[in-house]
Amino acid sequence: MSTTRIPFVDLQAQYRPIRDEIRQALDRVLDSTNFILGEEVARFERDFAEYLGAKHCVALNSGTSALHLALIALGVKEGDEVITTPHSFIAPAEAISYTGARPVFVDIETATFNLDISKIRAAITRKTKAIMPVHLYGQPVDMVRLMEVAREYCVPVIEDAAQAHGAECLIKGDRWKKVGTFGDIGCFSFYPTKNLGACGEGGAVVTDSQIIFEKIRTLRNHGQKDRRYYHPFIGYNYRMTAFQGAVLGVKLKRLDAWVAARRSRAALYDEGLRDLPLKIPKRAENLRGAYHQYVVRTEDREGLMKYLGERGIETGVYYPLPIPLQDAYRHMGYKKGDFPSAETCAKECLSLPIYPELAESDIRYVCSGIRDWARSK
Ligand SMILES: Cc1ncc(COP(=O)(O)O)c(C=O)c1O
Repeated sequence: MSTTRIPFVDLQAQYRPIRDEIRQALDRVLDSTNFILGEEVARFERDFAEYLGAKHCVALNSGTSALHLALIALGVKEGDEVITTPHSFIAPAEAISYTGARPVFVDIETATFNLDISKIRAAITRKTKAIMPVHLYGQPVDMVRLMEVAREYCVPVIEDAAQAHGAECLIKGDRWKKVGTFGDIGCFSFYPTKNLGACGEGGAVVTDSQIIFEKIRTLRNHGQKDRRYYHPFIGYNYRMTAFQGAVLGVKLKRLDAWVAARRSRAALYDEGLRDLPLKIPKRAENLRGAYHQYVVRTEDREGLMKYLGERGIETGVYYPLPIPLQDAYRHMGYKKGDFPSAETCAKECLSLPIYPELAESDIRYVCSGIRDWARSK
């Protein structure tokens, strides 16, 4: 057994250099005794919208709430259909189910782990009320291509960018645009391990639509619009706490540098894993990932995981079973073989450690571990 330990995530390493600033921000909230929404959250909303290049942001208590309110704001309800991916954390499918609508799963591309855009047209019916792509692992869906399909059928798009703060797609010329700002609504999670993580739960929606913005702002606060204790419709308690707004404000200033550090670490992995019997993430000229995760594929996933584990390298499997094959969705009647690419990825994907503070020497150690594993086979 090795004495080296490379954790899969290391939030301590992120916290150490910003400890004082975080504590000052938390103190500010304590001193204000203004614990819910308020100026800390409003400031973060302005800053996050500006960071992304969106007109509006509504801060919420989780990414799941963001997806849920986005669907309600678009009027999605029982009997409707929403197209989404079978290979993801379950939240997007759950949010669709909360509304009574039916998730329609379209298989992914194994090379990108994301929705296969060429298969979306065939899944659109008169009942389709939205398309919900997920920028999984921080790898952007090609939103320029996806929006062409959505516009052709006049179907609104909700982007699940929970894992993709800072990921970008190339639009005209040399202009890059951040994911979450292509569709009608972009949804983000600030779960602590995300590229931008709170010290607790958090989420947000962004939109350019004044109408959607006002609707979601009202929905997050029990349906109260202009006057307190007057409720034009039934809403939710999905508000962000001031502590999270304050913490996120501190971290947002570092997000660009953190995303750049993730990219440079991903490039080191690309280089170190080249020519191995292992599929590494696809890079496209027009997409810039945010590398929430660095995910490789191999048929001997369990063997590689064990081999690296014995060398003190933590890895993870995101996600081991496609959503339609989960017991939670058994009632929909899907069976093995319905989503060949998602099933392959669920069997073969392995996430390696990646975070801004991960040392280059650690990446070299992981790569040499993988080289040794390949040689030992
Ligand atoms: C792709 C994706 N969508 C949605 C969510 C839900 O976010 P939250 O945990 O903040 O509710 C997550 C969180 O893990 C996620 O990874």
